[in-house]
Amino acid sequence: MTRHAQMANGVPGFDARSSPAANIDFWIYRFDQELTAAVRDRCGLLLTDEERDRIARFHTQERRDQALIARALSRRALARRFGGAPHDWRFSATDRGRPFVSGKENAIDFNLSHAAGCVVCAVAAGARVGVDVEPIARAGDINEVSARVFSERERRRLKDLMSCGVADAPVRLWTVKEAYAKALGLGLGLDFRTLEFVFDAGFSDLSLMSGDGSWRFHSAVAQGVAYSLALQSGGENPVIISRDAACLL
Ligand SMILES: CC(C)(COP(=O)(O)OP(=O)(O)OC[C@H]1O[C@@H](n2cnc3c(N)ncnc32)[C@H](O)[C@@H]1OP(=O)(O)O)[C@@H](O)C(=O)NCCC(=O)NCCS
Repeated sequence: MTRHAQMANGVPGFDARSSPAANIDFWIYRFDQELTAAVRDRCGLLLTDEERDRIARFHTQERRDQALIARALSRRALARRFGGAPHDWRFSATDRGRPFVSGKENAIDFNLSHAAGCVVCAVAAGARVGVDVEPIARAGDINEVSARVFSERERRRLKDLMSCGVADAPVRLWTVKEAYAKALGLGLGLDFRTLEFVFDAGFSDLSLMSGDGSWRFHSAVAQGVAYSLALQSGGENPVIISRDAACLL
């Protein structure tokens, strides 16, 4: 499989070829400006009372907006792909907090991530997905915890890449690991050093050091943000379609 990160209309894209029937929608919302009251109201109407109450408890407006967009986007993206009204989709969560579509967890999967400036949501049929986003500006934080989250071999590789000027490599590797952990439904309590990856400078050749080969990983960087997607599908390689979510909200 050829996998190249690519850009289209400012939206990072992933080139993964094969069966269009099994495509994965990768929606990206960027906070280019503060949300208007109209957008907040429109999105709020899509949510349940419980979701609205939970969001209202976040301390900052930025965090409330991220959570609001994330939930509204998930609902709109699922409804667009599979039908039904956005408000009618029902979610549950695992003990570790991984949300899933109630009663449809074996057929439909979705996962979302938010960071300063953006929210992403992946939606899939017949595949397991996990996503993560981090601003590249968080490189300092990632480097500080490097010994706890990267294996020795990964750290040597990162050091080589950084000495060649590939400064975004640690953030990218971290988002790949977190996307994988989220696809599995695990949390930050995991020993991330045991999830060892092999990667090239552009993260186009990216794989798990050990595994059964059923997982695929994609990573892209655009506008100062690293985006990663982990997916496991039983059949052919799904096509990943990156979309700007502004039109959905
Ligand atoms: C999952 C987790 C790694 C996300 O961390 P993060 O980088 O701060 O957040 P992101 O923005 O990338 O993702 C957050 C979203 O991931 C989803 N999510 C939450 N827990 C998840 C999990 N265990 N697996 C996959 N996705 C999860 C949610 O949709 C959440 O957004 P929402 O709260 O607005 O719905 C972190 O919340 C975590 O470690 N959770 C597990 C906690 C745990 O193990 N608890 C055990 C209690 S016994």
